[in-house]
Amino acid sequence: MNKIEALEKLKQQMLTDKKLPLKTNLVFGEGDCNCQVLFVGETPGKLEDELVRPFVGRSGQLLRKYIRELGWKEEQVYITNIVKRRPPKNRDPLPKEIELYRPYLDRQIEIINPKVIVALGRFSMNYFLPEAKITKDQGKLFKLGDLFVIPMFHPAAALRATKVKKQFEEGFKKLHKQLSTDQGLRIKIGKGKMI
Ligand code: URA
Repeated sequence: MNKIEALEKLKQQMLTDKKLPLKTNLVFGEGDCNCQVLFVGETPGKLEDELVRPFVGRSGQLLRKYIRELGWKEEQVYITNIVKRRPPKNRDPLPKEIELYRPYLDRQIEIINPKVIVALGRFSMNYFLPEAKITKDQGKLFKLGDLFVIPMFHPAAALRATKVKKQFEEGFKKLHKQLSTDQGLRIKIGKGKMI
């Protein structure tokens, strides 16, 4: 089974899993499944639920702008969320929801097998790094088994405060530098298929 088939199978499993909480659309994720950089956010918002695509609202536009400015095409990375359905009124994901979606995100990561995960916001950061603190640790590179994890501020927080936006921008610049220079982390974006 290739990556596209494995991801499709996973998505079908999610669609039929009655134990998964929240009843809005399943926003599975999108991008190049052969990417080396995976962006992981929190939960889909209203527009994401309507369009069944991750990060397409205001914060998503900011994220996608910086991805393009790094020289990548949006479809050369993969974008997803820890919880793949929109919670009511865009509330934060509950610990129980995160745990119930966890096996699916873990499998999605295993299939995609990226080199680097950019964890957007504290929920995503703490999914991978339970002890980390966003203000202290954003922009730092963590090694997690074979993976590197870089926590960054959530783009929605960057939209709310100029200071955070500046740090978010700096985080992206640092990411670019780290990906091209650090620890053998020379990223070559593949020409995989967008699904
Ligand atoms: N915020 C997220 O964390 N994910 C989305 O897909 C959209 C907004």
